[in-house]
Amino acid sequence: MRVEEVVVDHGRALGFSWPGRGERGVNGVGPETAGVKDVVIRRACATDAADLARIQVDSWRETYRGMLPDHYLRALSYADHERLWRRTLAAPSATFVAVLDGRPVGLASGGRCRSFRGFSGELHLLYVLRAAQGRGIGRALFDAVHYALAVAGWPDMLVWVLAANRRARGFYEHLGLEPVGRATALVGGARVEEIAYGWRD
Ligand SMILES: CC(C)(COP(=O)(O)OP(=O)(O)OC[C@H]1O[C@@H](n2cnc3c(N)ncnc32)[C@H](O)[C@@H]1OP(=O)(O)O)[C@@H](O)C(=O)NCCC(=O)NCCS
Repeated sequence: MRVEEVVVDHGRALGFSWPGRGERGVNGVGPETAGVKDVVIRRACATDAADLARIQVDSWRETYRGMLPDHYLRALSYADHERLWRRTLAAPSATFVAVLDGRPVGLASGGRCRSFRGFSGELHLLYVLRAAQGRGIGRALFDAVHYALAVAGWPDMLVWVLAANRRARGFYEHLGLEPVGRATALVGGARVEEIAYGWRD
């Protein structure tokens, strides 16, 4: 059964049901398209490329000031990211967009995990613009990707987080993920520490 839209009071009441996340299902259907109050979470399509680029670049600049070099954040380009999103969205992908009052404000994207042994799925990106945070949108986007990956046969999920990104770490810990590894990466010439958080089915 495919649901075109589910309108409910809060993200926690979304009709999600998938392996390992308990009894939260409504008719056992997934979040192909789901609404949370005035928020709609839906699969991204090719025409979303420019909006996804804007969300990604703006969110990076909002979130990573002081964590990543200024010159790196300044150099981020909407046009480059739009091109990358066009390419990503040309093929089937677990990419979702959150639309608040008609304006795209968040995105999440996942796929097969290639960065860490022992996990099959990976949440590659999760960004909610600051002005839209704290309304359950991050959780709803997380759930949408998690569900899509579980349906694809990858129920356990990994996500890499900058160690300095305390807010995101708190969010993932609140959702029940646990640290499973660490790595260092070079970003814009700076060495940064990353933590892998995992959700095991
Ligand atoms: C991290 C992020 C995705 C969270 O999204 P959000 O929409 O603000 O979070 P939500 O409102 O969906 O919160 C969901 C739950 O997590 C909890 N939560 C959120 N941040 C938390 C934190 N830092 N510590 C503990 N709990 C937290 C909320 O209280 C809420 O709890 P509840 O559902 O039990 O009431 C968002 O802040 C964001 O995009 N940040 C900038 C980009 C970023 O860092 N992305 C992650 C890169 S790996």
